[in-house]
Amino acid sequence: MSSVLVTGGTGNLGRHVVRQLLDRGHQVRLASRSAAPVEAITDYSWARVDYRSRAGLDAALIGVDTIVHCAGGSARGEAETMAALLSSGRRARVKHLVYISIVGVDRLPLGYYRAKYAAERSLIGSGLPWTILRTTQFHDLALAIVKGVCRSPVALAPRGVSLQPVAVEEVALRLSELAGADPAGRVPELGGPEIRTLADLARLYLRSTGRRRPIVPLPVPGRLIKGLRAGHGLTPDHADGVQTFAEYLAAGGATA
Ligand SMILES: NC(=O)c1ccc[n+]([C@@H]2O[C@H](COP(=O)([O-])OP(=O)(O)OC[C@H]3O[C@@H](n4cnc5c(N)ncnc54)[C@H](OP(=O)(O)O)[C@@H]3O)[C@@H](O)[C@H]2O)c1
Repeated sequence: MSSVLVTGGTGNLGRHVVRQLLDRGHQVRLASRSAAPVEAITDYSWARVDYRSRAGLDAALIGVDTIVHCAGGSARGEAETMAALLSSGRRARVKHLVYISIVGVDRLPLGYYRAKYAAERSLIGSGLPWTILRTTQFHDLALAIVKGVCRSPVALAPRGVSLQPVAVEEVALRLSELAGADPAGRVPELGGPEIRTLADLARLYLRSTGRRRPIVPLPVPGRLIKGLRAGHGLTPDHADGVQTFAEYLAAGGATA
């Protein structure tokens, strides 16, 4: 059992990571930019931190062995947050930092991906023992993309683009296993069990909501779409996720 700080523990992934770590018997502290909720927290502690000013970070890391870094969401904050964690983590002699990244961050021309790749590199060069797990899109992000495709009366799906959505709970499980093990460097990627075109995912989504709508594959120019068409966001050799997008929808994903 170790003492683990989960950054972004309020988020979609982070809250599952907190739960999984608790289930595995770890001591958990959740780091958030917000104050603790008014209702009592009984099984983990809460640390309010500011990654920009670094306020609260040194205190949050007292007694912590491992950081699971799930905070993020914008290109601008990624470098700042990683830098703050690395400097406080070194001072606190943290033994392990586990970072969640995305399949294709080194290949797809997207600002957020560039920021995540730079954060990976600063972790690797930091001197702190590390583990990096790259995964594909979580089901809920795939759903948001698909909803965007289906918004107009004729669903327009960029031609040749596929996704490999994975269940966030399965990513959280893998992260909690990694947090309880020795630092392992770049571990095998984790992708969802199926690679499906956007048009296919849109069809599944429409069917799950009982709607019908023509789906038209749309040729879209640009380097990002070219990279996606080339499969740079996919990990076919690591289609190790279990829950399919259809199963996620059947479990109520589209109405969540
Ligand atoms: N969504 C996906 O499909 C996917 C796929 C692969 C990897 N990932 C990675 O998984 C991590 C978590 O994703 P998620 O979908 O769970 O995100 P999320 O639900 O948006 O949660 C992220 C949490 O991070 C904190 N946060 C948000 N913006 C931040 C910023 N600019 N600077 C510092 N902290 C910030 C927030 O917590 P507080 O406000 O409480 O601090 C938020 O609750 C991210 O690093 C993401 O890149 C996501």
